[in-house]
Amino acid sequence: MIQAGAVLLLALACAPSTGQRRSPLNDFQKLKATQLLSLNQRGSGPEQEEPSDTEECARRCMVLLDCRAFHFNHQRHSCQLLPWTQHLADTHIKRNIHYDLYQKKDYMQNCIRGDGRSYRGMQSTTEKGKNCQQWRLKFPHDHRFSPSLRNGLEENYCRNPDRDERGPWCYTTDPAVRHQSCGIKKCEDAVCVLCNGEDYRGLVDHTESGRECQRWDLQHPHKHPYHPHKYPEMDLDDNYCRNPDSSVGPWCYTTDPAREREYCHLRKCKTEKRPHVADTTSSCFKHKGEGYRGKVNVTTSGIPCQRWDAQTPHRHHFRPEEYECKDLRENYCRNPDGSEAPWCFTSLPSMRVAFCFQIKRCTDEVEVEDCYQANGEMYKGKISKTRKGITCQKWSAGSPHTPQISPAMFPAMHLEENYCRNPDNDSHGPWCYTMDPSTQFDYCAIKPCAGDKTPSVLETADTVVFAECGKRDERLQLKGRIVGGRPGNSPWTVSIRNRKGVHFCGGSLVKEQWVISTRQCFSSCDTDLSSYEVQLGTLFKDPSLSDPDKQALPILKLVCGPSVSDLVLLKLAR
Ligand SMILES: *[C@@H]1O[C@H](CO)[C@@H](O)[C@H](O)[C@H]1NC(C)=O
Ligand SMILES: *[C@@H]1O[C@H](CO)[C@@H](O)[C@H](O)[C@H]1NC(C)=O
Repeated sequence: MIQAGAVLLLALACAPSTGQRRSPLNDFQKLKATQLLSLNQRGSGPEQEEPSDTEECARRCMVLLDCRAFHFNHQRHSCQLLPWTQHLADTHIKRNIHYDLYQKKDYMQNCIRGDGRSYRGMQSTTEKGKNCQQWRLKFPHDHRFSPSLRNGLEENYCRNPDRDERGPWCYTTDPAVRHQSCGIKKCEDAVCVLCNGEDYRGLVDHTESGRECQRWDLQHPHKHPYHPHKYPEMDLDDNYCRNPDSSVGPWCYTTDPAREREYCHLRKCKTEKRPHVADTTSSCFKHKGEGYRGKVNVTTSGIPCQRWDAQTPHRHHFRPEEYECKDLRENYCRNPDGSEAPWCFTSLPSMRVAFCFQIKRCTDEVEVEDCYQANGEMYKGKISKTRKGITCQKWSAGSPHTPQISPAMFPAMHLEENYCRNPDNDSHGPWCYTMDPSTQFDYCAIKPCAGDKTPSVLETADTVVFAECGKRDERLQLKGRIVGGRPGNSPWTVSIRNRKGVHFCGGSLVKEQWVISTRQCFSSCDTDLSSYEVQLGTLFKDPSLSDPDKQALPILKLVCGPSVSDLVLLKLAR
């Protein structure tokens, strides 16, 4: 048996061969703001003093055979290697904003990749329900395997030491049945995909061509806008296939520098039943109108819509048969991609997409959406749901989770009922302990306050800019996803810069106060605009900071167009 508390042993020559670009973090699952404690602290490595980064910690953990997890301490930039995971008895996880916990996937996943040779999970029954025999015992069945740290033959867990093609197996405690497969599913079969997989939360981390996925929280080899903390409701976990952008199915960036992104091969659910679409309406729309199923077929300015099943005048990927849950019938206005409101491709060759704002918002939608200032440490509202929709646990309750933060400890924080609060000033905003036993805490369904959101701005976007810029839009589509042209060799007329004045994207002034640019330039549609400014007068040159012509303007508002357009509008302060 392998003692989980044994001292950390150095593996001699068994570091997995890693490609140059492959991040060692790919072998780990991350839990943010979490510390893993063991009731008997035997064996945890000391917190290493020399500053490090998460990849270096992962590298160190991978060459140690009995390292199963590590903490990364953000304050000290140090790591602590751990010989256990949260699945071991006598451990518990604790919220701590200074730590992230990384645990080896092989120990955490309940599905297998390939033949499951690396499976280190804790299943100990066979597919027919028989109990497994301890690997260290030779009774009732004698056998040739002896447990070692390397082969992972621990306790009586299902393992695949001989690369059986049926996956992990074990000797059984039934004298009449020598061994049996454990029937552990392959990760690609474990969870099926409904609709376009927007809700897929499975553990496949390879693309259909077999390339390994890039972690969503890394920016190499491919730079991308899908930072996990900007899209908490999308669960952009580790390097698992997801569909955050209304593609046809789940996909990921790949670890191959020559291939930016690819779809993942996943099993489609067989069920005939489509998931219930919340807030289906036909004469008005709720929220962003994803559930709008009415028959309006012209844009705000009266231009007839293009049929979804047609590819002229505009070519597009929203083919009705590939988006079976989005009801892309006829040429009706729809919102299949999480845009601001229902929209359509227009029948004018010069205008690719436009919103249908003549459809009114349903009048019962009076909600004044709650928002928070700064980190939300002063938030005193009554939202009590997380971004994933889980109800919050009362601050004064002791279950399902034992709070480390109680109303008595922070009387000034108003830890009332189960309302979202931010007593530890977490930079990701208000949070709560949740009623879901498997989720200790989560961030709340409240957004940072970001100024007014009047529909008139969106109408401006529709009638003024998307209309005038239809042609530009087509050109952007041809340019593909990467937009980083420097002023001078690109058609941009303004330069979008970070706070230090460094150019990172171009844009075009299309109307006084309005600049058009592309979505990829911004990490999300709710980006903190204070970190950006726009410089005018940069046509055909890259102005220096001392340039007298230069005019740097803050951005007041960012409006995302429908995702097919890849466009954003920036409203400038002048
Ligand atoms: C819009 O739909 C109506 C029926 O609902 C139809 O009579 C009309 O021709 C359609 N218009 C366009 C432009 O498709
Ligand atoms: C919370 O953190 C922010 C910086 O992230 C800081 O400006 C603010 O003063 C902090 N608030 C409290 C109450 O500590």
